[in-house]
Amino acid sequence: MRLVISLCYTRAMLCRPHQQDNGIFRVAHLSDLHLTSLVGVKVRDLLDKRALGYLSWRLRRRREHAPQILAALRHDLSGLPLDHIAITGDLTHIGLPSEFQQARQWLEMLGLPTDVTVVPGNHDTYVRARWEDTLALWAPYMASDPGLQVGEQEAPAGSFFPSVRIRGPAVLIGATSACPSAPFFATGSLGAAQIERLGDILDRTRRQRLFRILLIHHPPLADVVGWRKRLTDGTALTGLLARHGVEMIMHGHAHRSYVGHIASAQGKMPVIGVPSASARGANLERRAAYHVYEVCPTSSGWEVRTLVRRYSPEDHCFVVGKQRVTRVPGLAAGSVDATIHPHCHSAQDGQRA
Ligand SMILES: [Fe+2]
Ligand SMILES: [Fe+2]
Repeated sequence: MRLVISLCYTRAMLCRPHQQDNGIFRVAHLSDLHLTSLVGVKVRDLLDKRALGYLSWRLRRRREHAPQILAALRHDLSGLPLDHIAITGDLTHIGLPSEFQQARQWLEMLGLPTDVTVVPGNHDTYVRARWEDTLALWAPYMASDPGLQVGEQEAPAGSFFPSVRIRGPAVLIGATSACPSAPFFATGSLGAAQIERLGDILDRTRRQRLFRILLIHHPPLADVVGWRKRLTDGTALTGLLARHGVEMIMHGHAHRSYVGHIASAQGKMPVIGVPSASARGANLERRAAYHVYEVCPTSSGWEVRTLVRRYSPEDHCFVVGKQRVTRVPGLAAGSVDATIHPHCHSAQDGQRA
């Protein structure tokens, strides 16, 4: 066991940058942790769609989302020099109040609310439930920075989002696509009011020359998941993003890796999905993984280095996977020339798969 832990530490150290630099923003993106246990759940809590979700957990999900992988995940994150952690939903299975309490405890072990940003997923709003008993428990991890909130911060999710958190050269804009859906459906939607507020936020933060990261549970693009699991107003969202621009979109929900883009006048906006960070996975594509992004302002926008960290069942830890470097055009506040900034990675690195 000592040898295995030593190997894990060595591999984690491999992806450490040469040194900390305030000009670079390092954010980890995790999703679909499904970290809760339904052991001891009362029958009276399962008299609606939750009965189907409980059955799914008993038959499959309780073995798929493994506590030992979650422990390895926290261990791995603690060994990396991160500025922030973003979690795009589905921390629970059927959105019970007891699951929100379990997830809140896990979040507290992960980091401070100022260092961890959460948006909910469809499993977190499995059926209609009281805000006070459920999502309110995560409010410190979801709330906008003081003075930046656009909706009511003591209100149901519909008016709580989009959230706005500015960290270094980046802004994390959290949108909620989580809402209850019919049995056998896992759809999501933003609603017209949230989409309108999102446009205003994107305009304001573009003028501030921030690297705008949109966090959302459901993938905005239609080809990522099936119709039963789609974002119902995905077309409205992609249209808005094409008009207002965004530097990066991070999502979950599909439980597999995805890299796509939305075209805009500014250029291609990357849309990136991660697998569940706790899944054993029937194949490599679905095995637990998360991403670390290093965002570096340059004279022509930003340079983004993506590092994939994937769970290794043989080593019982997360190890370094694929890496790639991409350039994102735009206006960055306090930008530097990538050719002379010592910690930006030259675009000559290109796509390294
Ligand atoms: Fe999920
Ligand atoms: Fe989901």
